[in-house]
Amino acid sequence: MARYEINGGNPLRGEVTISGAKNAAVAILPAALLVAGECRIENVPDISDVRILLQILENMGARLHFEEPGVLVIDSTNVSCTQPDTELVCKLRASYYLMGVLLGRFGHAHVALPGGCNFASRPIDQHIKGFWALGAEVTETEEYVILEPGMGGLHGSRISLDMASVGATANIMMAAVLTEGQTVIENAAKEPHIVDLANFLNTMGARISGAGTDTVKIRGVKELRGGTYAIIPDQIEAGTYMAAVAAVGGNVLVRNVIPKHMECITSKLREMAVRVTEYDDAIRIQAYSRLRSTTVKTRPYPGFPTDMQAQLCVCMSLANGVSRLTESVYETRFFGYCSELQNMGADILINGKTAIVTGRQKLKGATVCAYDLRAGAALVIAGLAAEGQTVVENIHFIERGYENIVEKLTALGANIRRIED
Ligand code: EPU
Repeated sequence: MARYEINGGNPLRGEVTISGAKNAAVAILPAALLVAGECRIENVPDISDVRILLQILENMGARLHFEEPGVLVIDSTNVSCTQPDTELVCKLRASYYLMGVLLGRFGHAHVALPGGCNFASRPIDQHIKGFWALGAEVTETEEYVILEPGMGGLHGSRISLDMASVGATANIMMAAVLTEGQTVIENAAKEPHIVDLANFLNTMGARISGAGTDTVKIRGVKELRGGTYAIIPDQIEAGTYMAAVAAVGGNVLVRNVIPKHMECITSKLREMAVRVTEYDDAIRIQAYSRLRSTTVKTRPYPGFPTDMQAQLCVCMSLANGVSRLTESVYETRFFGYCSELQNMGADILINGKTAIVTGRQKLKGATVCAYDLRAGAALVIAGLAAEGQTVVENIHFIERGYENIVEKLTALGANIRRIED
């Protein structure tokens, strides 16, 4: 099993360039199935979730090739398959987008339930509610979701989500772009990747308005045509490098970011005594003194992202004083990494939805296990900050979502090696 071996203590210095956003890419690539013609998609991150997704699309009959690293040309004109490969679908969460896409393009779909990081119960009832509202007949078995057109066929509809679900908002948007009439999604998610997906679809000829607000309107069109689109930079990858500099110390220019997307992270790090300077498409992070404790509650965008909870917890573990970290999106997310951080000497007490973190001067190296993507990223940061050697196991989780993490950290001066037995 591959693992990372990290010798902690080196401050991080230099520049790092952020890749295209994972959670935008895993929506936009399946959305290309809705397009009759060639889509040229730039800034596609080279991560395992994307590689699996591309394999699924290729098996379904899409023609794809990389013009150069990160620039994918995908032509879905000849796709007719409505039952994607079950084994591959079960390997990632975002395969749930194939439901909306196939429903939108063909009116029916037979898709296995998604896999991916299982740090919490992750139901898809809101996706299903949306498909019903659009007129689909939905059959759920233990393994599959089967979608067929209902008696009245597919039609635009008004859907009010019970919670602002990222996946449900994107899935319903994709199912609705080619569906006759107007669809309105109320209480929609506002995450940057929702806006990115809408911008991609609009570039290809869709009529979506309001993405980024809590009401998204989709006016169905007859067809989408090909075009070129560049995926936004990854907010969470950028935040992870920012948290790493905060925890380890140093001075790093994080390039290819949208500073607006980073505001909630930037302001928290500033509260923790990190110096953050914003430029048009870059952010400089400088951390020279001990961090200050803080209080954070995760929330949907524009709040502090749940996907940065674990990385910030490492910073809190090293801060002066007692921090409180409350999770409001996935209650069980602490369990994926807090015990591992405790093995490294962190003082964390979990009380329901809140972790109370008493900062220590130092963490110590240990052998730890990544149980999900962001938990794994946090353990890498902890290893970089710790005294001595840390071994992070189960790194396939980390490589789902971080492009060239070892190379990027090494270029910043970190002592990290990938070891494969
Ligand atoms: N929820 C339901 N029913 C639904 C959908 C969601 O109860 O039908 C609940 C969830 O259980 C959760 C909350 O609503 O408590 C939010 O879930 P959401 O649907 O927004 O999350 P998701 O689509 O499953 C995406 C990202 C996650 C990220 C969350 C929250 C992708 C592929 N995944 O998941 O990313 O944590 O939004 O921002 O976009 C990651 O990148 O590490 C990651 C886990």
